[in-house]
Amino acid sequence: MCGIVGYVGRERAGSVMLDGLKRLEYRGYDSAGMVVAMPDGFEQVKRTGRVKALEEALSEAQLGGNLGISHTRWATHGNVTEANAHPHTSSDGKISLVHNGVIENYLGMKKFLIDKGYRFASDTDSEALCNLIAYHYAKEPEVDGKSRFLESVRKTLSHVEGTYGIAVVCTECPGELIGARKGSPLIVGIGKDENLLASDVNAITHCTQNVVYLNDNEVVHLKSDDFSICTVSSKSVEAVIHQVDWDTSAAELGDYHHFMEKEIFEQPVSLENGMRGRFADDGSTAFFGGLNLTPQELRHVDRLLFIACGTAWHACLVAEYLIERYARIPVEVEYASEFRYRNAPLDKNTLVIAISQSGETIDTLAALREAKRKGYRTLSINNSVGSTIARESDGGIYQHAGPEIGVASTKAFTSQIMLCAMLALYLGRLRDLSYGDGVEIVKALKAMPEQIREVLRQNDKIAAIAKQYANYEDCLFLGRQLMFPIALEGALKLKEISYIHAEGYPAAEMKHGPIALISEQCPSVFLATSGEIFHKSLANIQEVKARKGKIICIATEDCDIPEDLIDDLVVVPECHEIVKPILMSIPVQLLSYHIALERGCDVDKPRNLAKSVTVE
Ligand code: F6R
Repeated sequence: MCGIVGYVGRERAGSVMLDGLKRLEYRGYDSAGMVVAMPDGFEQVKRTGRVKALEEALSEAQLGGNLGISHTRWATHGNVTEANAHPHTSSDGKISLVHNGVIENYLGMKKFLIDKGYRFASDTDSEALCNLIAYHYAKEPEVDGKSRFLESVRKTLSHVEGTYGIAVVCTECPGELIGARKGSPLIVGIGKDENLLASDVNAITHCTQNVVYLNDNEVVHLKSDDFSICTVSSKSVEAVIHQVDWDTSAAELGDYHHFMEKEIFEQPVSLENGMRGRFADDGSTAFFGGLNLTPQELRHVDRLLFIACGTAWHACLVAEYLIERYARIPVEVEYASEFRYRNAPLDKNTLVIAISQSGETIDTLAALREAKRKGYRTLSINNSVGSTIARESDGGIYQHAGPEIGVASTKAFTSQIMLCAMLALYLGRLRDLSYGDGVEIVKALKAMPEQIREVLRQNDKIAAIAKQYANYEDCLFLGRQLMFPIALEGALKLKEISYIHAEGYPAAEMKHGPIALISEQCPSVFLATSGEIFHKSLANIQEVKARKGKIICIATEDCDIPEDLIDDLVVVPECHEIVKPILMSIPVQLLSYHIALERGCDVDKPRNLAKSVTVE
């Protein structure tokens, strides 16, 4: 959340950064701004609202310099105003800064600085950091061979409590750009006669594929043809340059209207990519290259703890059902934000698995670190190569789902479920799952992308159903067993992009409270799959019908549902139990997408949300 782009080089900084901000806008879209170094001083442009508003302002301002910093904001401290938009400039006019994160001790800093004569123009914590750099800069002596600017940033950061990814420029140091991170991501892009800073590789792959992932407490000093990294405590750091293998067109809209639509339709391919090369030759199991655990070590694991937030947490719940069922290993699932602050007793043979699309969610990262601190082995499942969670876990599985730009997660969710299904298969085959059962599961997984294409062909039908339900203000999503997490995810999807109040429940739990909500004004989406408990789901459908609740039923082909019991039906191909949560997710995603469109909502950038939540 909050996107940063900084540039120093031979190109017009303003247009390079604008391109970058557009690719980062999913990280926050309350306001946007940039500062560019011009021959006669810094020029600043800020606007509330989207990057588009900044772009319009920039076309009037015509900024031409070769050094600059820019930002797209997701507000934490202070309202959405131009004054609170980044960059912030110190009251002596020398330092400009963009910041992603939260400075916890900013009130103390602010008081100290006001006493020293610094003035504040915003309500943000970031401005305190900016003025504190200016304060240290003013005090810093000139020493041959040392950058006064760098020293002042470093000294300031040693006083900071909280999290930051920052990019800073100084009027007296034209050609120098400084970045630093603690808790919030920051990536250095190394180009030819140009260097960049960004919160996400996405923002810089149009300039370079060579990146350095900064670690916490590292500060980078960039010039157009050179860069160096040190720690906040001044130890020099040897940079490791990675080549990102990133197809930039994957982050572009192409013929689709929205990224969410594109990403829903990409699922057959994103899932194929996640499976590729991960099945054993005998066709009965999966394997993963990066677990860094031998089969012997995995056999000694007697509990799994999954940690995540939001949609990824729903994927963890699916993992619980699948791994307990197919691998017979007890699984616990915790919200990362809860786990990190409680001292949960864990068995020493517990393996902790963090799931995160971005690999940067601060609560998931903190929970992972807490588990590591206590000596547990950790794995992660994530979609962002080189992300902090990927780097800090002991081993992991990359999703290879391609960049997910729509703020509401779709293809990352199904890919996480699929990898959990494959993990269940792998762990099961190391224990009691038979060869024959393994072969069935592998076949089912391989058949799934084609079945998803079949579901996607019902897009128009689902859009027509959505039309009828777009004006309700409440909705329940109900499902049993493996469909319960999908009900939770359906409710989350609907509420986040259409602002309809929605709740997900295990269908049988409805009788214990939520049934009071059922009326003609509150429809229900039932997720029904064939199998031993189908008739139980049918009974729950009847309970809603008896109370005049409208019903959309999403069901697998073999479910025999009396027509008069439901109002609308979407049928999903019959498939193996293990892939049902994936197939059933597709109509749920499409339904939310079309309802949100009907309501005129901005599906890719829902209000108040941001992708990659890097504040607590
Ligand atoms: C909802 C959504 C969020 C994320 C959550 C975790 O559509 O996308 O709930 O799932 O913020 O994000 P990651 O997976 O990046 O850790």
